Amino acid sequence: MKDKQTPGIYWGDYESVSKVDKAHFEDFKRQSPREIEEACRDQDGRLQHIINAEHFDLDFLTTLCDTAKAARRIDDGNREFLGKLLRGRGSINFFKQPSSRTWSSFTRAAGILGMQTVDIKDVSTSSEVKGESEKDSLRTLSSYGDALVCRHPSDEYDLFGLWVQKSSGREIPFINAGSGTKRHPTQGILDYYTIKESFNGNIDGRVIAFVGDCLRGRTVHSLAKILALHKNITAYFVAPENLQIDLETERYIEDRGVMVHKETESLRRVVPLADAIYMTRVQSEHGGSGDYNEIFKFTMNSLDSMCDGAILMHPGPKRDEIDPEIDYLNSDQRVMYWRQQRNGMWTRVALLAHVLGVDDKIRETYKEYTKIGVDR
Ligand code: NCD
Repeated sequence: MKDKQTPGIYWGDYESVSKVDKAHFEDFKRQSPREIEEACRDQDGRLQHIINAEHFDLDFLTTLCDTAKAARRIDDGNREFLGKLLRGRGSINFFKQPSSRTWSSFTRAAGILGMQTVDIKDVSTSSEVKGESEKDSLRTLSSYGDALVCRHPSDEYDLFGLWVQKSSGREIPFINAGSGTKRHPTQGILDYYTIKESFNGNIDGRVIAFVGDCLRGRTVHSLAKILALHKNITAYFVAPENLQIDLETERYIEDRGVMVHKETESLRRVVPLADAIYMTRVQSEHGGSGDYNEIFKFTMNSLDSMCDGAILMHPGPKRDEIDPEIDYLNSDQRVMYWRQQRNGMWTRVALLAHVLGVDDKIRETYKEYTKIGVDR
């Protein structure tokens, strides 16, 4: 399938500059996956750069989910406490692809913690139009903040962002807010939190059905890799042949014990088997038609055939892959995608608190609340 976007990294207009930068980046990429992961951690082993769901483990995710829950509860009554935690610190949001949910939830998350944000979404207003390389613009932006949150079409951008930090001599946490077609680690966290909350923490043995663009949906890849940390997970990938999950990801999760089924004919057969149905839109910005085949749409009938306690998820933005009437079933516990979006804000509060080292204060304060009986 032909790629419609220009997914590359912009190295500036001057070959004498780009040659040198590219050579340094190539050198950096020669490191092993283990070395790259180590480069994402501080000397205590805490993840500082969030580039890739493959770096997560269950301890990290559990602590993050606890922080998110604690922050959500504290906010309901003691907003000032959260607002003081990172007062005066700065978060820079640099988004080179469209975003509503991820961008606004990161901006709000920073605000909840008292941070100021610089938001750049329209690249025509950045100095890259004057020929400045993306490396220089990222390094410049980093020098004004305490955390950098970026979205980019390139599949290499996770490593690029890390490299810019590592080579700058003034490292700040780099958070990948969605890059290329395979990586969206912070969406993976919010999806995981949503699943964990929905099933009271019991995730082992669950069945998840990913529906739609399993090939280029980066949210699918990140969540599938995260769920593979649990035991006895079954994953259905429900998509036409040309949008099926790639072999590399399939192998990755199978090697970690996930039972993989590919369904290319219909969603109907899979709905009654799944604990979570994860709909996605066709990523037509990467080429091909954006039209959704009727046989993969989630209808009112699909809702009726869901098993007890199952949930319907969608990372957004959605088009017509879910019957629009389902949006109006506000009290239906199965319809999880609006709550899922809201969870994004709280998990991003937790993530910013984690990378900037104030997450334990949130959990400890919440523990005090529960001790004195003010759990809200
Ligand atoms: C997703 C993305 O950007 O990958 N959106 C999001 O962050 N919630 C999914 C999509 O665009 O389809």
